[in-house]
Amino acid sequence: MLDSIISLADLDRPQLWELMELAEQLKQMRARGREVEKRLSGKSVGMLFEKPSTRTRISFEVAVWELGGHPLFLSSKELQLGRGEPLKDTARVLSRYVHCVVARVISHDTLIELDRWSSIPVINALSDVEHPCQALADLLTIREAKGELEGVRAGWIGDGNNVCHSFMLGCALSGISLTVATPAGYEPNRDIVERARALGGDIALTHDPEQAAQGADVLYTDVWVSMGQDAERERRLMDFKGFQLSDELLALASSECIVLHCLPAHRGEEITDAVIEGERSMVFEQAENRLHAQKALLYKLFER
Ligand code: CP
Ligand code: NVA
Repeated sequence: MLDSIISLADLDRPQLWELMELAEQLKQMRARGREVEKRLSGKSVGMLFEKPSTRTRISFEVAVWELGGHPLFLSSKELQLGRGEPLKDTARVLSRYVHCVVARVISHDTLIELDRWSSIPVINALSDVEHPCQALADLLTIREAKGELEGVRAGWIGDGNNVCHSFMLGCALSGISLTVATPAGYEPNRDIVERARALGGDIALTHDPEQAAQGADVLYTDVWVSMGQDAERERRLMDFKGFQLSDELLALASSECIVLHCLPAHRGEEITDAVIEGERSMVFEQAENRLHAQKALLYKLFER
């Protein structure tokens, strides 16, 4: 039975596989205009956001609505939380009104605290450490493009950040081998690398983007300056030079290589306009898959 998803590794392999299958079915049903069971009927989902969002917010709102539930967007600034009401009080109050909380937080500790004081499931909608819902859509996109996950070779080019962490865990759980290329000082969190490896992940770390691109079936990048890092912008732009996902890097990959980006993208920084608009790019399928993957997640979560 699914419960809170704070990390992608809160899922085991069979649960991940089941979510992928279900997401694909739900996607097909939606495309054919077929009704899905309104499993969230009579249920409300609180969506607590401390940071901006386009994809996560809208795909969750639509997913909840299409499953017959009621999504409530809760900007932290407009709650009493923004005026200093303790999170542990907010968590206990929300637990008496809604049936699940989807939360995008500045600090991962906020999510842990929210989950600790909530008597309902909490879903991580991005923290500074992980973005598990993104990884579900990433894996779904790779599965669609490649027909399978096991044995696929992926390369991450850029920041060893939240999106990278969840992708790494997702690769470990699904048998994708991953080479992560970051500038020195921007490597993924060591604990998460170890966790991914303990799950059986074939994870290599390098400071050479060409090594990650060589022979890859999937190349994935994310912004160099994440939300909340604007003060580091100048330094990051310098440090990430040479890590742009360009046609030159793509030329080193397999001829069938697909390009992923969680979006929003900064063309001319982590990825060129030609690559993101090019024929290998699956970024909009990937964005669409947020909806199907999260719908599957909510569907399984309310299987109780
Ligand atoms: N990829 C992603 O989470 O996008 P948003 O910030 O728009 O939700
Ligand atoms: N790494 C980015 C991802 C946005 C979806 C950020 O945290 O801003």
